[in-house]
Amino acid sequence: MRRIALLAMACLFAIGLHAQPAYTVIGNDTTCQIFVYSPGEKSGLHLAWVDEQQQWNDVGQLCASDYSAWGSEKKMFNPYVIHQGDGTWRAVWSVNNYAPCFAVAYSEDLVTWRPQDYPRMSAKGCLEPIMFACDDGTTDIYYKSSNGKRYVKASADFRQFTEDPQPSTIDDVAWLRDTATVGGKTYEGNLFEVPKVHLDYIRQWFAALNADAELSRERMAQDAQHYADLPTEGIQATLKVSPKQKAISDKLIGVFFEDISYAADGGLYAELIQNRDFEYKPNQGRAKGWGPLYAWRHKAQKTETDRPLSANNPHYVVLNADTLTNYGWDGIALKKGAHYDFSLYTRANKNATKAKLKFLVRLVENGQVLAEKKLTAEVTQWTQLKAELIATADASKAELQIINLNKKTPIDIDMVSLFPQDTYKGHGLRRDLAEAIADLQPKFVRFPGGCMSHGQGIDNIYHWQHTVGPWQDRKPDYNIWHYHQTRGLGFYEFFQFCEDMGAEPLPVLAAGVPCQNSTANADGYGGQQGGIPMDQMDDYCQEFLHLIEWANGDPATSSWAKMRADAGHPAPFNLKYIGIGNEDLISTTFEERYLMIAQTIRNKYPDIQICGTAGPFHYPSSDYIEGWEFGKKHHDVTDLLDEHYYESTGWFLHHQDYYDHYPRSGAPKVYVGEYASKTRTMESALAEALYLCSVERNGDVVSMTSYAPLLAKEGHHNWNPDLIYFDNERVTLTPSYHTQRLFSRHGGNTYVETRLETAQQNVSHRLGATVVKDATTGKTHLKLVNALPVNVRVTVDGLTLPPDAQCEGFSAQPQEKSCQPIAIDALQLANGTNTVTLPPYAVVAITF
Ligand code: AHR
Repeated sequence: MRRIALLAMACLFAIGLHAQPAYTVIGNDTTCQIFVYSPGEKSGLHLAWVDEQQQWNDVGQLCASDYSAWGSEKKMFNPYVIHQGDGTWRAVWSVNNYAPCFAVAYSEDLVTWRPQDYPRMSAKGCLEPIMFACDDGTTDIYYKSSNGKRYVKASADFRQFTEDPQPSTIDDVAWLRDTATVGGKTYEGNLFEVPKVHLDYIRQWFAALNADAELSRERMAQDAQHYADLPTEGIQATLKVSPKQKAISDKLIGVFFEDISYAADGGLYAELIQNRDFEYKPNQGRAKGWGPLYAWRHKAQKTETDRPLSANNPHYVVLNADTLTNYGWDGIALKKGAHYDFSLYTRANKNATKAKLKFLVRLVENGQVLAEKKLTAEVTQWTQLKAELIATADASKAELQIINLNKKTPIDIDMVSLFPQDTYKGHGLRRDLAEAIADLQPKFVRFPGGCMSHGQGIDNIYHWQHTVGPWQDRKPDYNIWHYHQTRGLGFYEFFQFCEDMGAEPLPVLAAGVPCQNSTANADGYGGQQGGIPMDQMDDYCQEFLHLIEWANGDPATSSWAKMRADAGHPAPFNLKYIGIGNEDLISTTFEERYLMIAQTIRNKYPDIQICGTAGPFHYPSSDYIEGWEFGKKHHDVTDLLDEHYYESTGWFLHHQDYYDHYPRSGAPKVYVGEYASKTRTMESALAEALYLCSVERNGDVVSMTSYAPLLAKEGHHNWNPDLIYFDNERVTLTPSYHTQRLFSRHGGNTYVETRLETAQQNVSHRLGATVVKDATTGKTHLKLVNALPVNVRVTVDGLTLPPDAQCEGFSAQPQEKSCQPIAIDALQLANGTNTVTLPPYAVVAITF
């Protein structure tokens, strides 16, 4: 009854507003009208205000729909907004006409919004939701569906939504909306009267965002005009080094390895055979012909699945009197004289009359045989056969052929492998790529993703235990980046790689929710909005404990640790960090699952450092704000918080103060887990170097950083730019790589306060300096960055640069994709004046 009365009042109010001409200012000197509406399904929620000429002016987007996948989804239909009695704002909208949910959003000020929730409803297609505020702080929501009108009660915090099982009898008049004409077009929406100071605040907020966006557009291509006034002979600067010092993280620079752009299979994992397991699933790759025989050339060969080598790898090929050819990833590169280990599992096919197998294995390029071996066996059960092949010539596009010589015996074949014997530290990783990563001296490695960790829907969440043990028993899976993972590069190999480089492993597993951009599940609900059902979460939490036990446990007492020992590593891996989640939507679904996992880990392994996530964007994105609030509130189970941002060079140039005001206590430390400025050129290397100076300055609050993505195979990019590009034969290091390398190899654990001064205007954001001391080596590192088109002569005050200081650095024009080392005498260090001359566009480290 009470609900009906409230509703009637609310309807009258809505109708009253609707009856007003849209441009009429109701209110007085201190209040004004605003109109909240959506100009289009992909445009999100907008706000307009009415000026003295009674014209509506759009200020910009308040929030956008985050439901389901990029591209076809993330739409907002018929948004409806109310102003609750407690002063907060609540919005609802339809996400499409088939999902069993609508979207809800909550804001205290109309400009920042809590991450959205998508409460599950009974009807498929929850259309035109509308809302009415109740006195007790709760909200009445109604929506239309093919099952008629439905009523939903929302809790006062707008987090719990309970649907009435009975259809609602509410009158259609409740759906009448306000209208306003913005930019010549009339829209339906909601009108409100707000204090003028609130509108001023909103307009100032958008003005500040626009000003920030303008600064972030700064590019170095404009430098000739921008810095035309700088003297051609260069400028002077003084670096004032203070006696003040502070402790900083000694793990500032690490790497983030994700299997994206063929970084694992076809990349770092040295396997030369593509689709060795015949498990490519039809339609899951972007390439034509994707399926169990992809990358294999064959005549009428087929795959079967009965009595497989392993239930986790059901497909194998049946080879008749024929040749089976694998063309690797864009061909197989061979080196003359190099040794290769070939292996396969085989048996006589069930239709064979004899169990005698005879076949020839060959490496061939353009008809020329570069290596070959004959293999024979008499086997009816799966058996592994091996052969060593030695290449007689270099090749870049060789193929592997398996020729069945026994015409009467069809043979089953699975797990066909070809590895170079020469891999990084003998542990199966492609040497040149692994060495390029190791040369960065990363202090840690985050793996295996990224979006790869939380996957495309809950069935594609990465379960670490599927990636260890014998190859054939590992569970291959679809990769969210649209290809296949054999999981040959699994957790054992990741941990081994970390140990080989002296880096800490930082595995990241999903927080019980899949990728925020997952497509909907079969029932139309999805993707990250679902999450692992709560009754399965206990089991999922155990996976984290098993991982820690597998990595650190005693093989004598733990079966998980025994698996590690059986694989060849009896000593513990000494895991110290674990990540939960990857740039997730910080929704109710996420929060409850994160807490379950984090508490489970903390209870059993209180010393493991737990890293949470703060969404895919920097401040002021909703996931960032909520992620930090949540992280602070649950600091007891969140030691670090992972921030991500891919931004323009201008953004990095103008946000070097980003961490200056972060809380120094009572909050998680920062892990900048993914960041990059968006070019492949020296311009980005400079912007990132300047930014890293500011990160070192804040190394007491920022504990770790990792550029992303790390690797990309030329011609197979999911993402651009990346730190290292490669094909089958070459590795290309970007200028950004050199920035990472220089900062990583010249880091420390004590920061020395400095100030770089120059008389010139408008150059300070293009100059960077940082001094750190490393207690382990006893060395001091001075790093200097000049992102200006002229020389900068820096006089160091407060620190003596010895003439025998070691220097290294690089420079290039901003648009260049490679850079050149700087000769030490170019820096004019040895002249006893305590000055360093930085060439234009240069990054330098001086060590003494
Ligand atoms: O680094 C590439 C992708 O960027 C990662 O998978 C994801 O975390 C982010 O969106």
